[in-house]
Amino acid sequence: MAKQWTEDEAQSWLTADVAGEMLDFPRRIAASIVATSGEVSKVADIASGPGTFLKIFLDKFPSSTGIWQDASQTMEDAAREGLAAYASRITWVQGDMHHISAMELPVGLDVVLCSRATHHLTPGELKTFYGEVSQLVRPGGWVVNLDHAYMGHYWDETFRSARKSLFARSSKASSTSGHHHDKPAPAISDHVSALLEAEFNEVQTAWQAYYTFLIMARKPS
Ligand SMILES: C[S@@+](CC[C@H](N)C(=O)[O-])C[C@H]1O[C@@H](n2cnc3c(N)ncnc32)[C@H](O)[C@@H]1O
Repeated sequence: MAKQWTEDEAQSWLTADVAGEMLDFPRRIAASIVATSGEVSKVADIASGPGTFLKIFLDKFPSSTGIWQDASQTMEDAAREGLAAYASRITWVQGDMHHISAMELPVGLDVVLCSRATHHLTPGELKTFYGEVSQLVRPGGWVVNLDHAYMGHYWDETFRSARKSLFARSSKASSTSGHHHDKPAPAISDHVSALLEAEFNEVQTAWQAYYTFLIMARKPS
């Protein structure tokens, strides 16, 4: 199975996640927007890590069930501990997000979430990712992705430097994300075109801070 992270990288990321707090706000924005379309009964979080995004949706929609998905045992252990109170509502699936169709996830999902994982994909892999996610989402359902994008040379450098100064209270965390990036992230325009190609519509950026953005889209009803 192709994995971008080692278990050591996963462990080091868990102890150095300074931006997590900032991302509580866009995660709640996402849940509030999805709530405008009615109840959610089934939600999946791809590359869920400690399950923070999934937890916000399980809280917002108390009768929903969730699928936690990731490639890492370290992350599953952390999520099982952090989400212990939700255990009866969660199904745990390990697998590679490059091959979502191979995971045999249930179809007809109301929402598929992802956060801070697709920036590792090439634009071509991103198309495959959204195409496979699209197969899981019911008509009228949502895809929600909170991730980092490449903003072009000037803004990428500027955002990185400004963000580092804002999060300077943890020098270890601000100097490393705990894992490696060997190529630029896809641009927001790559997400928009891949979502449209995957037959999502109503594609919209609902929030952005520095190079991190929340993109949402719906399957036609
Ligand atoms: C930066 S963390 C983000 C975790 C969580 N979504 C969040 O925002 O808090 C990236 C996650 O992607 C997972 N991951 C990396 N490669 C993966 C792959 N090929 N398939 C599924 N998950 C993967 C890692 O194990 C990790 O949990």
